Amino acid sequence: MSRVTEQYQRACQSLAGGVSSSTRLNRAVGHAMYFDRADGCRLEDLDSREYIDLCCSHGATLLGHGDARVRRAVEAALARGAACSYENEQTAELAELLCEVIPCLERVRFTGSGTEATMHCIRLARAFTGRGKLLKFEGNFHGYHDQVMFAIGTPADQLGSEEQPTAYPGSTGMTPGLQEQIIVVPYNHVDLLERAFQQHGHELAAVIGEPIYYNAGCILPNPEFMTALRELTRRYGVLLIFDEVLSAFRMGISGAQGYLGVTPDLCTLGKAVGGGYPLSVFGGRRDIMDRLMPIGDCQHSGTYNGHPVVVAAALAAIRAYREPGFYDHIHAVAELLFAGLTTLFAKHGINARVQGLGARFGVYFGIDREPRNYRDVVHHQRNQMLRFIKIAIEHGVYFHDYGGAACHHGFCAAMSIADTNEVLARLDKALAVFDL
Ligand SMILES: Cc1ncc(COP(=O)(O)O)c(C=O)c1O
Repeated sequence: MSRVTEQYQRACQSLAGGVSSSTRLNRAVGHAMYFDRADGCRLEDLDSREYIDLCCSHGATLLGHGDARVRRAVEAALARGAACSYENEQTAELAELLCEVIPCLERVRFTGSGTEATMHCIRLARAFTGRGKLLKFEGNFHGYHDQVMFAIGTPADQLGSEEQPTAYPGSTGMTPGLQEQIIVVPYNHVDLLERAFQQHGHELAAVIGEPIYYNAGCILPNPEFMTALRELTRRYGVLLIFDEVLSAFRMGISGAQGYLGVTPDLCTLGKAVGGGYPLSVFGGRRDIMDRLMPIGDCQHSGTYNGHPVVVAAALAAIRAYREPGFYDHIHAVAELLFAGLTTLFAKHGINARVQGLGARFGVYFGIDREPRNYRDVVHHQRNQMLRFIKIAIEHGVYFHDYGGAACHHGFCAAMSIADTNEVLARLDKALAVFDL
């Protein structure tokens, strides 16, 4: 028996479902993956099979695995004793760096995960505005806490009308009554956004949204939609929160907000911000952030917030993102990879659409036009996608399936042009045996 299968069976005896995170099961292969060694863009599993990684720790390892700059910074922090739950020089250094590179940031706070960042950010928005309701976009994902686990992977037959999408719960066990605090609007729909503001604008504390909707692969916002969003939130005194947990640093150092030229009031950062270590950030306008204790009355605390090892890793990672040529390389790989995949699908007669920006992308099977929102992607050919992922994995290219409607994939900066060509060559072989 393979060591991977053996390990999965063993884990299932003590770890619920065999995993530490439910979406870690890759449904395309029917088990979790066990990558014991990793270097740059390559992973090696327990059976010594090698893969080029197009998941990249769900977006956390933008530099690649085992980056030497991050490792040195982590080792130096460990050597200094890594006294946690106190402040140190690097906490302020990292805060300054983030305020310098991300447009909306005047003040920041550190927490551990994307989930915590959105949770605290929403509490702060409610404290600042004195209002309770939250508007979110259908399908956008903001973490696993009860406030936002609505309308994230709604089954096609439960969507409701476009005018009134259901706030379909993403889990059982959620606090009763929270649904009433959520207004759901389809992404990229200016008319319905205006209508929602006419009806609920004065009750809303905040709008939270993905400025680039990467959780559905890669869906870009229409310029009119972004303009309306910024204008309506200002007019109604509603805070605009960009959830940049997945988008930050992906296509440029200033995140999606810099790329789009739209500055929110608050934003959250996660994944790539920690260079592969568990750091997340929320921050924004100084007058709002000053509402946090100990200045104000809104609580945000945590024993492991701003852990010295993680802060050191983040400093090293963001400095690496700022090195000359970093994003030129990301965009060169993106261009080659996305065009190459599109050509391969056409060559093998597969109706699949590749959409990406910077280091992350989506592949949509059986969709003929550019998807603009969740409703456009929910009908993609999920079973075909699973077969593709399985065959890609068998040929040494790792894609992850998240179990939802669409998936996001990505590459790291350690992936060279030669590695990219190798990905395309491996997938060419895989698609030759792909059963439509
Ligand atoms: C946009 C967005 N927000 C929040 C989260 C939650 O982050 P975490 O998994 O670190 O809790 C994710 C995770 O995928 C995300 O993509």
